Amino acid sequence: MVIGVDISGSSLQALEKEARTFDGKCIGVIGDIKEPLTSVKAVDTAIQHFGRLDYLFNNAGIEFISPLLETEDSNWDEVIDTNLRGTFLMSKRCCQVMADTGFGVIVNNASDAGIRGIKVNAAYSISKAGIVHLTRSIALDYADKGIRANCICPGCIRTPLCERFNAEVGERKGKSGAEVLKEFVQENIPMLRVGEPEEVASVVLFLCSDDARYVTGAVIPIDGGLTAGM
Ligand SMILES: NC(=O)c1ccc[n+]([C@@H]2O[C@H](COP(=O)([O-])OP(=O)(O)OC[C@H]3O[C@@H](n4cnc5c(N)ncnc54)[C@H](O)[C@@H]3O)[C@@H](O)[C@H]2O)c1
Repeated sequence: MVIGVDISGSSLQALEKEARTFDGKCIGVIGDIKEPLTSVKAVDTAIQHFGRLDYLFNNAGIEFISPLLETEDSNWDEVIDTNLRGTFLMSKRCCQVMADTGFGVIVNNASDAGIRGIKVNAAYSISKAGIVHLTRSIALDYADKGIRANCICPGCIRTPLCERFNAEVGERKGKSGAEVLKEFVQENIPMLRVGEPEEVASVVLFLCSDDARYVTGAVIPIDGGLTAGM
């Protein structure tokens, strides 16, 4: 049983539909994660329906492609507020409840951009690097309350975000998104392919499971070897 939080109603509907195919239950909360009220609504909904809250996966995020001099102050705020503040607010509110019950697992979705520099990506990279350290802080501060916190760093995963990213980079280079992606994969990913969303989900499930009971504060690339050689 999950509470899905998303700013987009159609994304939530898709999630609810998918949950039904697995005989699962998903309750959608429409909201913007950078607004404090969203985390309050999400946690209250979980407690109301399930009586407790055991796991938090901070997945929502936005991409922004731009070198520093083309990054407007408002762009910076939007990216940092969505990715970093949103993760902070959701984590803080969930941690309060988890600390009370003495159990909880948090998995934060950062990015390969959070553990290395990427061109034309300043605001996004900073937001993701911040998530890496926020995760470590939670792990350190709340291990004694039964809370584990880990961070995943996906590389290039087949999602709409990845498609938009390559299309935008392609525009800057006068190439198609597909061409940019193909070249990137051949030159940078040792496994020579992009990742699938399921290959991210399986790591998240492992981190939430009891098999990972001694894992906290970890930062785990899921990238086909992309960042292995940095
Ligand atoms: N796809 C990749 O290659 C890749 C690589 C590294 C990291 N990531 C990270 O994985 C996560 C998921 O990305 P994705 O590729 O599925 O992207 P996506 O754009 O396909 O999905 C992102 C989801 O977040 C939601 N969202 C955006 N802003 C929000 C807000 N303010 N409040 C609530 N919901 C909001 C969107 O509506 C959407 O449903 C992101 O944090 C992203 O940075 C993705």
